[in-house]
Amino acid sequence: MDKTIWWEQTTHSIHYIDETVLPGKLLISECCHPDELIEAIKRLAIRGAPALGVAGGFGVALVASRSNCTELQLILEDIGEWAEKIKTARPTAVNLSWGVSRVMNALTPARSPDEVRFLAVEEAVKIAAEDADICHRIGDVGFDLIPDGCSVLTHCNAGGLACSEWGTALGVIRTAHKNGKWISVYACETRPLLQGARLTAWELDRDDIDVTVITDSTAAYLMRQGKIDLVIVGADRITNDAVFNKIGTYMHAVCAHYHKIPFYVAAPVSTFDFLNNENSITIEERSRDELAYCGEHLVVPDCVKVKNYAFDATPLSLISAIITEKGILKPPYDISKLKETDVIC
Ligand code: MRU
Repeated sequence: MDKTIWWEQTTHSIHYIDETVLPGKLLISECCHPDELIEAIKRLAIRGAPALGVAGGFGVALVASRSNCTELQLILEDIGEWAEKIKTARPTAVNLSWGVSRVMNALTPARSPDEVRFLAVEEAVKIAAEDADICHRIGDVGFDLIPDGCSVLTHCNAGGLACSEWGTALGVIRTAHKNGKWISVYACETRPLLQGARLTAWELDRDDIDVTVITDSTAAYLMRQGKIDLVIVGADRITNDAVFNKIGTYMHAVCAHYHKIPFYVAAPVSTFDFLNNENSITIEERSRDELAYCGEHLVVPDCVKVKNYAFDATPLSLISAIITEKGILKPPYDISKLKETDVIC
């Protein structure tokens, strides 16, 4: 799998796979200005929680590298203003603000604008490298949960395209596949932007992992027919009481619970939000046109209202296990354990 997002030191810019044009085209685009980064995040050219964490870090590096301020105080103010704009480009995935804050914190020892530039790029590049390593560790920790010959349902895209590479939920599937297990994946298309049909299917097919795309509403019936052995998804934020992920995740979790099918979440520790509960989180609502148009065709009458939530929240009580790079969390969940110890199995 190629890298999804990376820093080009020669041009002081962010390069990324533009996910809006896959699977038709593998297009590498560039952000040379923080406005371009914010725009790429908003239109989901860069997307997926861990990739947003990396993008947030690179965003601070971009502002620092491009700033021609010659005074320490001024460059820090410049970065501070942009940091707020980047953090709020999308509200639900905690990783975006996490990535921005981590690079901002790394600037504390800087004594000159040049040191700020150096430290910002250094920390952002480190986040990207760590993210790849963390995804591989999530795969290593979780692949035992995937039996040989099983049939797995996944929703949205929690693959390499949602991270800097390898993926979280798809990382677990990839590692199982690499270890010789045969796995058949049902990828929910993921209305309305089709991350499952366009991205998950593209990634798995490239890796020769058996994949079948279904409509989101087919999942329950496949479960009823006994054709799904387990569900595995990623996460955009895990609070003390719920997992936030792509809209439709809750529906699959309820159905899996009813059919007594394990429901796993794979996510890095950076996705945990130890400070909040479900009720305090903003769920992103996206534009009417994403629902009202299918390509160029109007599919909802002009005068009719739409509701276009990008994410939903699934209570932890419906989740069989959370796979992190530090180990596997099982019910009853005590999220605070993650802060206390390195191994949580
Ligand atoms: O709106 P998106 O495409 O950014 O939503 C992404 C998801 O919901 C993913 O499942 C989540 O970020 C986990 S990615 C490893």
